[in-house]
Amino acid sequence: MPRQLFVTTALPYANGNFHIGHIMEYIQADIWVRYQKMMGHAVDFVCADDTHGAPIMIAAEKAGITPQQFVARIAAGRKPYLDGFHIGFDNWHSTDAPENHELARQIYRDLRDNKDGSLIEVRTIEQFFDPQKNMFLPDRFIKGECPKCHAKDQYGDNCENCGAVYAPTDLINPFSALSGAKPELKSSEHYFFKLSDPRCVAFLENWTQDGKLQPEVANKIKEWFSIRTNPDGSKSEGLGDWDISRDAPYFGIEIPDAPGKYFYVWLDAPIGYLASLKNLLNKRDQDYDAYMANPDLEQYHFIGKDIVTFHTLFWPATLHFSGRKTPDNIFVHGFLTVNNGEKMSKSRGTGLDPLKYLSLGMNPEWLRYYLAAKLSARNEDIDFNADDFMARVNSDLIGKFVNIASRAAGFLTKRFEGKLGHVSEDGAALLHQLRIEHTPIEQLYEAREYAKALKETMLLADRVNAYVDANKPWDLAKKPDQEARLQDVCTVCIKAFRILTCYLKPVLPELAAQVETFLQIEPLSFTNIVDPLTAGHVIGTYQHLMQRVDVKQLDALFEVPATVEPAQVATEKVASKKTAPTATPVDPTAPGGEAIAPTIQIDDFAKIDLRIAKILSCQAVAGSTKLLQLTLDAGELDEAGQPKTRNVFSGIASMYQPEQLVGKLTVLVANLAPRKMKFGVSEGMVLAASHADEKAEPGIYVLEPFAGAKPGMRIH
Ligand code: 2FM
Ligand code: ZN
Repeated sequence: MPRQLFVTTALPYANGNFHIGHIMEYIQADIWVRYQKMMGHAVDFVCADDTHGAPIMIAAEKAGITPQQFVARIAAGRKPYLDGFHIGFDNWHSTDAPENHELARQIYRDLRDNKDGSLIEVRTIEQFFDPQKNMFLPDRFIKGECPKCHAKDQYGDNCENCGAVYAPTDLINPFSALSGAKPELKSSEHYFFKLSDPRCVAFLENWTQDGKLQPEVANKIKEWFSIRTNPDGSKSEGLGDWDISRDAPYFGIEIPDAPGKYFYVWLDAPIGYLASLKNLLNKRDQDYDAYMANPDLEQYHFIGKDIVTFHTLFWPATLHFSGRKTPDNIFVHGFLTVNNGEKMSKSRGTGLDPLKYLSLGMNPEWLRYYLAAKLSARNEDIDFNADDFMARVNSDLIGKFVNIASRAAGFLTKRFEGKLGHVSEDGAALLHQLRIEHTPIEQLYEAREYAKALKETMLLADRVNAYVDANKPWDLAKKPDQEARLQDVCTVCIKAFRILTCYLKPVLPELAAQVETFLQIEPLSFTNIVDPLTAGHVIGTYQHLMQRVDVKQLDALFEVPATVEPAQVATEKVASKKTAPTATPVDPTAPGGEAIAPTIQIDDFAKIDLRIAKILSCQAVAGSTKLLQLTLDAGELDEAGQPKTRNVFSGIASMYQPEQLVGKLTVLVANLAPRKMKFGVSEGMVLAASHADEKAEPGIYVLEPFAGAKPGMRIH
């Protein structure tokens, strides 16, 4: 019976581009979804941007745009990653969409009006308030001295120096990271979801411990029902109530009957799963309520291990006590480290840049294969190791699998006009061994044991290669009386290749599509068990299916961005903060996070020749994710009196798509000494603004003059 599945990945915050951690999660889920579709099941696979919350509101304010514009800008950059890695979401939506506003408000009303007693309670709490910005401060926007180790400039919830966890009120000399002001304690009414209600506790104890969750996840959750450590280090028994409201100003969804109060982003974020589904169903003219009412509907969420609490406590409780279906399972994965290095952090995906990977011409299916070869159903961390990557792709994927086709196809084309022949007993036995493995391999995909599924498939490929080595088609080809045997052996190889391709198709959809074309067959699926490759079937001409990984590509992928001289820091800060020889010390009380530079005289200023320049063209730089290459018209002429342009590299790719800049005017440092960079010579620098603390306040903004300025005009 076909199953009806509703599958999601975690919704990414709309405050930055994807990093490799996101891509890994999407690939993991995409493989599972493709497998389910190949089993003949109906799957709706959706995601959305997670748009709400204080950090996005503040980032938008800094950028001088509305939060809606800010998140739209981020959303516009999603497609190249998703298409690039063959991630086939059926829908991409936004938590700020009307469906989500409506659903969140209705779910809240249902919780509040629960017939067995409301699950919502209003309480007055005290919180730090920024008197200058006139707003309550989220923990990460309060900084101060660690109460334990006295390290300065620590966040309000934990110390990055000694790891201590505390409440913002424990900080010594706290200050607002937004304005630098000393925060004041102020009371406000907050809305709480009563997770400590005995109904909730009983429901969640059962929901989390009934055997569906991964054992390591269920065990971890068990601890939360017994003893909790509070931010101040004290211990509490059992589940605590959950603060689901935030005070205006807040970019979010207003709480019904509570003017000026908004849902905390984590209340409406998972509801975004439903909103994206609803949006998809609307587009198809399908009824959302009827879809959700289907008792056979299965709902699954792929997430990272850092957001388990939200998905195994808050989310099922929200759904259950508002009278809705709860997820059938939550699939938790570990983190991805790169070259045994740092964890991929949410805000700083260091190490392996997905767009750089693609821009270097690296095959996305290498990465899909490599990650699948490491992924299991457990939530342990996995490491991307460059040598291992090259070995697995070149030796296993290409050496063992792709080569089967190339070893056989040439003989069939040249000697038999591409026609397949009859298969004798030994070949039939081999093919039988391959075919009967489909059930265990399907079960491994179902269980998200991709590493094991690929291992099994490669063992089968080994058997096929052993068959080739034993039968030596290259020798058979030299013996005129062995024509029939040659066609037989090559036919076995091609039939085996079709079966192996089917087993790999969830991981390698693009390669499988090429194979389907080459073999001239219908799309491969696990349900289609009839072998279309009968005697007399003509295959297409073999074209090389996949290149090997070149070590130079890996070197380029992990190459540290070119180091930057102090004079270049202004526009290249984003690219080079780590390696810049003179990083500006961050001072949160100073404007833009850094103290005003020492006084200069007008003569000093006059040495810098700033000119208006028009951006004639702009493009991404192959091999760099940070830089854009600008061609500028600063009103100059060459010796022949022809217009002359300047080539400038600028570290602004994280903020702008090239097409956003073309045709704009900006400011050029016209007399800066030309500088040889890895990608070419930079003939000047364009001016851009950024905050000294790029972690707390990311963003770099190119300067644009008022209307009327013309290329070449000097700035005095
Ligand atoms: O941790 C995060 O990146 C969140 N934006 C995930 C949200 S998942 C879901 F609940 F929306
Ligand atoms: Zn400390």
